[in-house]
Amino acid sequence: MCLTDENKNEMVVTPWEVRGKVDYERLIREFGTQPLTDELLKRMAEHTNEHHLQLRRGLFFSHRDLDAVLDLNDRGTKFVLYTGRGPSGPVHIGHLVPWILTKHLQDKFDTRLYFQMTDDEKFVVDDESKLADMTKFGYENALDLIALGFKPEKTFIIFDVQDIDLLYDIALEVAKRITYSTAKATFGFQDSTNLGWIFWPAIQAAPCFIHKKLTGENVPALIPAAIDQDPFWRITRDIAQKLGYYKPAQIHCRFLPGLGEGGKMSASEPETAIFTTDPPEVVKRKVWNAFTGGKGTAAEQKKTGADPDICSVFQYFLYLFEENDKKLTEREKQCRSGETLCGECKKDLTERINRFLAEHQKKREKARSTVDEFHIKR
Ligand code: TRP
Repeated sequence: MCLTDENKNEMVVTPWEVRGKVDYERLIREFGTQPLTDELLKRMAEHTNEHHLQLRRGLFFSHRDLDAVLDLNDRGTKFVLYTGRGPSGPVHIGHLVPWILTKHLQDKFDTRLYFQMTDDEKFVVDDESKLADMTKFGYENALDLIALGFKPEKTFIIFDVQDIDLLYDIALEVAKRITYSTAKATFGFQDSTNLGWIFWPAIQAAPCFIHKKLTGENVPALIPAAIDQDPFWRITRDIAQKLGYYKPAQIHCRFLPGLGEGGKMSASEPETAIFTTDPPEVVKRKVWNAFTGGKGTAAEQKKTGADPDICSVFQYFLYLFEENDKKLTEREKQCRSGETLCGECKKDLTERINRFLAEHQKKREKARSTVDEFHIKR
């Protein structure tokens, strides 16, 4: 929206736009977050008795106050989890990344999850969108969340338009304490930005604090989310203590790359995104056309090897589909040496994705009958 940037390769990361080559170190500096250090990762692994793939492979790379949340937890003050989704269309596997870690944290820390489905946000920020469509996507997207295995008794989905009564008083308290000048500086709002959009950050802040209203317990929220959502938490953290709450903590992930050359997985480029509802032959086609680090000919590749660092297929093994560290290292070695050609990796990845999706799609359909159990109650 607001950022007019002539240079196409220039990095732009806002909650509503991500483009250019993303420099994650630079984001840590510019957003003022903390790097996820080995020490903190070790502490997480000790707490959970598991060094989760997404943590040990660096998919999550930055945080705010994760250490403080663990300190509090050690002293007996638990935390709740909060994350969400802007339901502007179907879910792709990139969207699942923070949800997968969230599920791991729910299991290991036995905590509640508040999940915000922001049909309102997607309505106000997109000129072309219709509210009823966003709401419909919200219910469809909730099926993907549920399919990952969250506990119904500890998971509370907030469908914004339907459940706004639960958020509205909190959003008002938040909104009253954030000036337009702060919001403008944080989000780049302009004179042409509509009012719904300008108020929106107060609504995304509200679930950080909803646990106290529902249960009387004052505990911090920990938010697993992609780094682009950080501006929301910056302004929310500034006012949290004034309202008598803990500052919400975050753990930030990178963007899952698309199957094309560079760029994150994006629903607006459907040929380079794997949707959770894609049938096997569509997955096969998309992976077959993926950008790899391979050479022009098989002969050349056998001689000089290929480059997994720039290969989109390898990123999927790394971040999602190859749990086994040894096997991953082996795949990487064979790629660099030219022993394995791209066709083989593509075939393996297609198989892995389709195996995962077959299960996911079954659970997703089953979720239609349980979605009510996950819907937040009054
Ligand atoms: N704004 C997010 C999006 O467009 C949706 C969202 C709401 C969210 N609350 C959240 C995402 C908390 C992560 C964490 O996708």
